[in-house]
Amino acid sequence: MAVGAFTVGATTVTKATPTATPLGRVVPAPASVTPGKTPYRITHDTAIQVDGSREARRIGEYLAGILRPSTGYRLPLSTHAGHGIQLRLTKGSFGAEGYRLDSGPSGVTLTAAHAAGLFHGVQTLRQLLPAAVEKNSVQRGPWQIAGGTIEDSPRYAYRGAMLDVSRHFFTVAQVKRYIDELALYKINELHLHLSDDQGWRIAIDSWPRLATYGGSTEVGGGAGGYYTKADYQEIVRYASSRYLEVVPEIDMPGHTNAALASYADLNCDGVAPSLYTGTDVGFSSLCVGKDLTYDFVDDVVRELAALTPGRYLHIGGDEAHSTSHEDYVKFMDRVQPIVTKYGKTVIAWHQITGAHPVKGALAQYWGLDDTDAAEKAQVAAAAKNGTGLILSPADRVYLDMKYTEDTPLGQDWAGLVEVKRSYDWDPGNYLAGVPTSAIRGVEAPLWSETIVTGANIDYMAFPRLPGVAELGWSPASTHDWDTYKVRLAAQAPRWDALGIDYYRSPQVPWPAS
Ligand code: ACM
Repeated sequence: MAVGAFTVGATTVTKATPTATPLGRVVPAPASVTPGKTPYRITHDTAIQVDGSREARRIGEYLAGILRPSTGYRLPLSTHAGHGIQLRLTKGSFGAEGYRLDSGPSGVTLTAAHAAGLFHGVQTLRQLLPAAVEKNSVQRGPWQIAGGTIEDSPRYAYRGAMLDVSRHFFTVAQVKRYIDELALYKINELHLHLSDDQGWRIAIDSWPRLATYGGSTEVGGGAGGYYTKADYQEIVRYASSRYLEVVPEIDMPGHTNAALASYADLNCDGVAPSLYTGTDVGFSSLCVGKDLTYDFVDDVVRELAALTPGRYLHIGGDEAHSTSHEDYVKFMDRVQPIVTKYGKTVIAWHQITGAHPVKGALAQYWGLDDTDAAEKAQVAAAAKNGTGLILSPADRVYLDMKYTEDTPLGQDWAGLVEVKRSYDWDPGNYLAGVPTSAIRGVEAPLWSETIVTGANIDYMAFPRLPGVAELGWSPASTHDWDTYKVRLAAQAPRWDALGIDYYRSPQVPWPAS
């Protein structure tokens, strides 16, 4: 049954006849939804028609990979016209990631100008089918897609999620699973926090001990780990197959104990500190006065840039409490040109706005609603001066913040962040004095001091992550908690089918199970 039993207040409403999921019941909310009369029904006769392009074929295979196990249908890929699901790449005013979905009795057609748009359209199609479509064994249909037309494209080009693989290490398989979860909500940037005091997680050939020694532990004293270059390239390749760009971060000049422990020469006093497995911040700094520091940064950035087909390289720059302001500015003045020299665009946490962001740099705002006015004004001034902003307000979208006092995982230094709070703000007017054009998008970071397993990732990301994805994708005109929470609730059976654990927030009218 497409629409099951929903609890609304104290009343349980049950629909007995199988109906298609209403066309607009999608997260993130599509830009435009025009319901039609008659749904399309996928049957054993359905084929997936792709145009001649390799990318459309690849996306067709991806869609078939989702539909075949649960429907039990063959769903052959075909380049012949006929009834069924059509994926078409064609010139048109869809933008870089937009698409159009047309559904009626004779078929469903997804049209886009670029492959990313087709892929996002497939995510919409997926959400319009019953949640059981996500299962790996044959399920009962019917497999209906409501009739009508969706025209959709994102509000912001940058819609990110960050995973801290330093405080606890996550395997390639765990990262891939998160990528699949992100793709379902049209997130297109995966920021990996690859280094911190507790662990260095990426192999650097010219400084091998960073990974082999600096990556040998994690918070709590576990074994840690690191990605070989082949591992990392596998993550990048997989992300790319889901139309996500990987943004690697090497956090500098603070948050560098793992590097300082690996190479004594990087320390101003020439003495390597011990590896660190606690959760304090702000105690480490690269040695700003040593030339070797910039040889090190050059080597790391060069090797990382060579592994990165994406546009960005994140250099951290937060919580440099053991670096004087003067040194911080000196360091950033010297390091940013290294990033641009290797062809990458600088991203840094918003403290960079207290130094001299290079032309084209993006600053990632991680303050709170009540961060002091002077700090916000500094960010706004940089934005007026051309620095783009990614918004990650910590008391809104930090996925490691506890939902309530009782949340077994997470931290609370930025506050408790229930589902409504994480959704109910507008990136377009969040920071006063910032020109609209400076806002490049939003990102939901997940710091991993308390996050150890894949299930922990899921529980903190769901159900907040889809809300952040919606803030990044959907037009402000669709923003409405009361209708959002109903669309969000409808996602829960899909998470169940996918084995995604989530926080059953009392703010959301979950279907009765
Ligand atoms: C941060 O949360 N230190 C960026």
